Amino acid sequence: MRIGILTISDRASQGVYEDQSGPALREMIGKHFDEDVDLTHIVPDNFGEIKGALMKWCDDAHLDLILTTGGTGFAPRDVTPEATRAVIERDAPGLAQAMLAASLQKTPYAMLSRMVTGIRGHTLIVNLPGSPTAACENLAVILPALPHAIELLRGAPGENHLYENPLDEEIRKRDMAGE
Ligand code: MTE
Repeated sequence: MRIGILTISDRASQGVYEDQSGPALREMIGKHFDEDVDLTHIVPDNFGEIKGALMKWCDDAHLDLILTTGGTGFAPRDVTPEATRAVIERDAPGLAQAMLAASLQKTPYAMLSRMVTGIRGHTLIVNLPGSPTAACENLAVILPALPHAIELLRGAPGENHLYENPLDEEIRKRDMAGE
């Protein structure tokens, strides 16, 4: 799995404080999947910069999974969901809904996150909130589903057998018999 973590924070991008959420997510990924994150980066809460970073990681770096942390709330500069929506080609709302449902058990403030989850090409993009605790609590919810999600996005062989048309086999047999 090729994974990128994009931290979205004005202050962390200016070095006013150290990014804690990115490293916390990285540690969690390392522990759960026994593999390291491939790319990390910090951008300010700026629509164009977030969108540009996401597009590069999807279209040029061909990552399987991008986790963003920060900028999902109601503050005027929280534009991560808008930038993500500008990049994704397909919605994957189940992931965001699962994270919201689980997070509401922890805090009513969970409903203040506008996290977007969706797909561009073969890359899954998941918005997570900005605090290290909130980011990790949310990631923990979707971790078990991620390997299968990535497999499906890659179009892994064997995953489509349930949806094959049984008539195809008949046609193959007839072809081989030269009918
Ligand atoms: N989700 C979980 N699981 N735990 C939390 O502590 N904090 C909430 C919410 N989601 C929280 C959470 C709060 S206080 C906010 S404001 C929103 O996420 C948005 O966070 P962000 O603006 O840092 O992205």
